[in-house]
Amino acid sequence: MRRLLIPIAALCVALPAIVALLQDTREGAAQTATEAPAPIYVMPKSGPFAPEQIAIPQSEYIAAWARSGHSDASSVSFSYWNQAGSIPPVCAVCHSGMGFRSFHGLDGSAPGLPAKPVPVGGVVDCETCHNAGLAAITTIAMPNGISHPVSGGEASCMTCHQGRAAGATVSRATDGKGEDVPDPTLSFINPHYSTAAATSLGGYGGMGYQYPGKQYSGRFLHARPVSNCASCHDPHSLAVAEQTCLTCHQSGNAEEIRISRISFDGSGDTNKGIRADIDANARRLGAILGEYAAKVAGVPMFYDGSRHPYFFADANGDGVADLIDGKPVAFAAWTPRMLKAAYNWKFVASDPGIHVHNPHYALELIYDSLQDLAGPLGTDFAGLNLVR
Ligand code: HEC
Ligand code: HEC
Ligand code: HEC
Ligand code: HEC
Ligand code: HEC
Repeated sequence: MRRLLIPIAALCVALPAIVALLQDTREGAAQTATEAPAPIYVMPKSGPFAPEQIAIPQSEYIAAWARSGHSDASSVSFSYWNQAGSIPPVCAVCHSGMGFRSFHGLDGSAPGLPAKPVPVGGVVDCETCHNAGLAAITTIAMPNGISHPVSGGEASCMTCHQGRAAGATVSRATDGKGEDVPDPTLSFINPHYSTAAATSLGGYGGMGYQYPGKQYSGRFLHARPVSNCASCHDPHSLAVAEQTCLTCHQSGNAEEIRISRISFDGSGDTNKGIRADIDANARRLGAILGEYAAKVAGVPMFYDGSRHPYFFADANGDGVADLIDGKPVAFAAWTPRMLKAAYNWKFVASDPGIHVHNPHYALELIYDSLQDLAGPLGTDFAGLNLVR
């Protein structure tokens, strides 16, 4: 699908033609769907994309978009529901342009979750972000309950890249329970994926699990010209141009950039990028989570990042998930302490750009989680020389 789109986009100068072509491809795919298909690329009947308003430079935007993840109908993000034939409303908000428009009432419906499941096949199409009604949206509700003020282009990114859980979700599940008592009613809480909007809001967004009595870095505003999503990401290709960074940093490679003179990971090395400190501490947290599972929760745990719910039981400690009837057994000995730390560990990992979006919030969450787990294990936490 993606490979097909690029030549189409490159050849087209007018959108109606591309829409017609894309709908042709869609018809081929629709034969396997169980429901009457809706067009993938929903275009307004009038508005910014009426043919006479489309200038030739559009082809550049279309081609960039066609190469991005947003247009990749074959990715898991957009094909996950193909067998089911439709996308549940709660998922469609972010996994289909049609669901997104319905959620914000841009399709004439009342704002809120779509009233019924949304047909499969949608991607983040042009009208997801180019919609006259979008400018009227001034706040976006985030998973911890806050209404975050947005301007212009950011409403769309903040809606879909906010994740699906917050620190409060973890508190609600664990409040009043013994910190180190395995509780079969607890299960892993997944922050979801590509959560850049959540991480960038930091402590103010409260999307990580924030330990009582600790202070957290707030929204990471970076520096003035690069303070919103589209100032770094081309909104069509989604790529970040290294040139953007070179105005202020010596390197355009995000993984190499560092400003802090403090060694957060205790290595004493401040020549490497801040990403390396986050990675080193996250690795430690992953390891101590395993140790805690075995020694305190009483069941060795195995983590498989490619498979939901990610944490599995490994009773014999052989480094492979236990199987019952050929199926891996989910880890079920969660204690509140372990759930909080595992949530933070996954939260930091769920934003691959967290070193740029909010490095300090990431470091704080990992530090606090490590410190909390170290207690009952009797680990010499101070001896690690970590800095928060
Ligand atoms: C309707 C929901 C939605 C909106 C709106 C949205 N995204 Fe996405 N975004 C996604 C999904 C879903 C993916 C994963 C796509 C995939 O796996 O192919 C994604 C992927 C990405 C990626 C990963 C790069 C890639 O090529 O896979 C970046 C970066 C990104 N989005 C940035 C943005 C920015 C910046 C905005 C606002 C201008 C935005 N997104 C608006 C849902 C959305
Ligand atoms: C707040 C927006 C949002 C909601 C609501 C949402 N998702 Fe997602 N989801 C995303 C984004 C963004 C990604 C893109 C991750 C990436 O870059 O590959 C994603 C990715 C996924 C993936 C692919 C994960 C992978 O490993 O690549 C699956 C599966 C998924 N979501 C399932 C669901 C299900 C099921 C629901 C409903 C119960 C749901 N999502 C609701 C935003 C959302
Ligand atoms: C994820 C959101 C998103 C998607 C999807 C998207 N755009 Fe855009 N587009 C933007 C943003 C944000 C800007 C403004 C960029 C800026 O100001 O630098 C923009 C700018 C443009 C512009 C330039 C407008 C101007 O006044 O300079 C055109 C033309 C355009 N987009 C066309 C398209 C077309 C065609 C598609 C579909 C193939 C598309 N866009 C998909 C977010 C998006
Ligand atoms: C200061 C520049 C900057 C800002 C502002 C910014 N990003 Fe990023 N973002 C990056 C960089 C750099 C990466 C890492 C890219 C890489 O390593 O491939 C990244 C990574 C991402 C990714 C993961 C891409 C992947 O490969 O999976 C997503 C999604 C994303 N950003 C979305 C957003 C959203 C949404 C916003 C606004 C809330 C935002 N970004 C704001 C620079 C920025
Ligand atoms: C206008 C100047 C400016 C631009 C452009 C800029 N940055 Fe920054 N960057 C800063 C400043 C200032 C800080 C420190 C902010 C703070 O800690 O509050 C920073 C911090 C960072 C950090 C965290 C470093 C640390 O040690 O805490 C990373 C990573 C980073 N920038 C990456 C990028 C990337 C990648 C780009 C390009 C997409 C970029 N920056 C563009 C000024 C800029």
